[in-house]
Amino acid sequence: MSRPRMIFNAFNIFSASHHDQGMWAWPTSRQLEYNSFDYWVDVARLLERGHFDTLFFADVLAPYETFSNSRELAVRSGMQFPINDPGELIPALAYATSDLGFVLTQNILQEPPYTFARKMSTLDHLTRGRIAWNIVTTFLPGAGRNLGLGGLPEHEDRYARADDFTDVVYKLWEASWEDDAVLRDRVTKQYSDPAKIHQIDHVGPFYDVTGPHLCEPSPQRTPFLVQAGVSPRGRAFAGRNAEALFINSLDPASAAPVVADVRRAAEQAGRRRDNVKLLAILGFVVGSTEEEARRLHEEITDFQSIEANLAKQSVFLGHDFSQYDPVEPISEIARRPEGRQGILGELIAMSPRTDITVGELVRWYGNLRVVGTPEQIADQIEAWQDAGVDGLNVQYVTSPGTFEDFVDQVAPVLRSRGLMQDRYGEGTLREKIFGQGPFLPDEHRARGFRRAAWGDGS
Ligand SMILES: Cc1cc2nc3c(=O)[nH]c(=O)nc-3n(C[C@H](O)[C@H](O)[C@H](O)COP(=O)(O)O)c2cc1C
Repeated sequence: MSRPRMIFNAFNIFSASHHDQGMWAWPTSRQLEYNSFDYWVDVARLLERGHFDTLFFADVLAPYETFSNSRELAVRSGMQFPINDPGELIPALAYATSDLGFVLTQNILQEPPYTFARKMSTLDHLTRGRIAWNIVTTFLPGAGRNLGLGGLPEHEDRYARADDFTDVVYKLWEASWEDDAVLRDRVTKQYSDPAKIHQIDHVGPFYDVTGPHLCEPSPQRTPFLVQAGVSPRGRAFAGRNAEALFINSLDPASAAPVVADVRRAAEQAGRRRDNVKLLAILGFVVGSTEEEARRLHEEITDFQSIEANLAKQSVFLGHDFSQYDPVEPISEIARRPEGRQGILGELIAMSPRTDITVGELVRWYGNLRVVGTPEQIADQIEAWQDAGVDGLNVQYVTSPGTFEDFVDQVAPVLRSRGLMQDRYGEGTLREKIFGQGPFLPDEHRARGFRRAAWGDGS
């Protein structure tokens, strides 16, 4: 029986290196060309040929510095640093494609909501409705320092800001310009109707914004709303805001309760439970036989340095692994109090064997990928779907090599099982994903601001 189709995003970053450290040096990688349009246009056209839903740009605003309390290793290995602004790249890629969507990650501390709303409306116009905003509150202390905030605000405070920030941008996108405000009448030479363009007069705990919005309504008005974050506060935020939530579960079994929780949060916010799509991450290595894939996986894992892996996992697990000698057996560490607590304790508990070293454990954890034939990878993708996940962010080992492998080898099997689209739907990104739009559904809180501002029941 054919399955419902899933969403597939190509996960990338405007830098030479995303999650697999050091792979920019792999012979066939083109990641060192990240400053050139030619490389990115080739990536975008490849993804469109393979009917990916979007090219999903992660973004960070500071070098990683958890490991040894220093950025040295991250800088030396090119770990998401240097990094350019993806918002500047997307228009060129949209011009070179016709259906591929683009997800722009921007954290809510990065710029005032007023200029951000203009940026996104501009992108929505220029992409003809193919832009999404990945809402993050970020986790990097350096980002807070660089943004003039004297450090990263506390988690709760960041989400409180996100509430206020989204109120402002929703009002600008949804409530400032009425649907028939734009006239463009060549005879009367009247561009728009002042009576139908409203200030928003927002006064909030963090932002006071008068308006009106600088841009006329764009194809989706509010861009497609993605979010990344899985804390309880993050899940509640997703229930009220996200049309897609990117989660970091390691396997389908651990994703299932998160999925259920987020759908419940959506219902509590008066939305339909399936109006939040759940996105997980997929790393893979494919071969024509399982043995071939395993050999390649080993080769790739050996190519990466243990140190760079430790540094990366220090950031994402929030634990400084520089305290340990990579050749120290984990059984030694498991005996210490910290080896039984927190993230380190969890990692040790997950360990595939008890006789491995810290370096090997982190290497194993950092290289959790589906390794096998296209059919085996498709089986694993089915398991994600069975856990309630709606889509996957496909992570690269090398770019564009991983995406070429996916398009040419994995996608045909997915299509034969109904799991991946073989043509794009009509219209904006929202219509392509949900089959309806182009605007947010009326029950989304952003649309409520229209009714409040216009008072006409629209
Ligand atoms: C799957 C996933 C992807 C994320 N991607 C980014 C990113 O690209 N840039 C960023 O600054 N933060 C990113 N974050 C981190 C969130 O901004 C951070 O965790 C924040 O605290 C909100 O998430 P939380 O609700 O899990 O705490 C990501 C988080 C998750 C779970």
